[in-house]
Amino acid sequence: MEALGIGPGDEVITSPFTDPGTISSILTSQALPVLADLDRESFQLDPDDVERKITENTRAIMPVHIWGQPANMERIMAIARKHNLRVIEDACQAHLSEYQGKKLGTIGDLGCFSFQSSKTIASGEGEAIIGNNEELMDKCYTVHNHGTSRKGRTETIGPKYRSGG
Ligand SMILES: Cc1ncc(COP(=O)(O)O)c(C=O)c1O
Repeated sequence: MEALGIGPGDEVITSPFTDPGTISSILTSQALPVLADLDRESFQLDPDDVERKITENTRAIMPVHIWGQPANMERIMAIARKHNLRVIEDACQAHLSEYQGKKLGTIGDLGCFSFQSSKTIASGEGEAIIGNNEELMDKCYTVHNHGTSRKGRTETIGPKYRSGG
């Protein structure tokens, strides 16, 4: 959230069927989590309801690939493009799962993984964030490294997530 510049006054649309960690990641950036309904067939985020919940404050959509099953990324990405929103995939339960030939977590702007002890790849505690925009990945590094960039400059205020990540 912080790496994407999401903060006070911003809204992030996500799923109510998830781990509290999804919601806390939005709240700790001081943004507002907005819960969209689920699709009755898949139990994943319902893209129609996501679109209904978009307001002028919406900055991002955070689909959760619950139980390793994919959210409807084709529709979610189309909605995000239409409304100029970022997409952060919560792929914490979806290590190596695929959707239309792509690994989950590689479709949106960022993909998040958990290696906490209940996960299919577990390290006790641990997390990873992936993306293919180098500038954005540098910002992720800076945020998780208490605001200090790879170049060793303290550029922002940030938590220290590096011990578990
Ligand atoms: C869907 C989902 N999102 C987020 C998290 C939070 O991950 P962590 O416990 O590594 O912070 C988990 C698991 O704990 C999860 O299952």
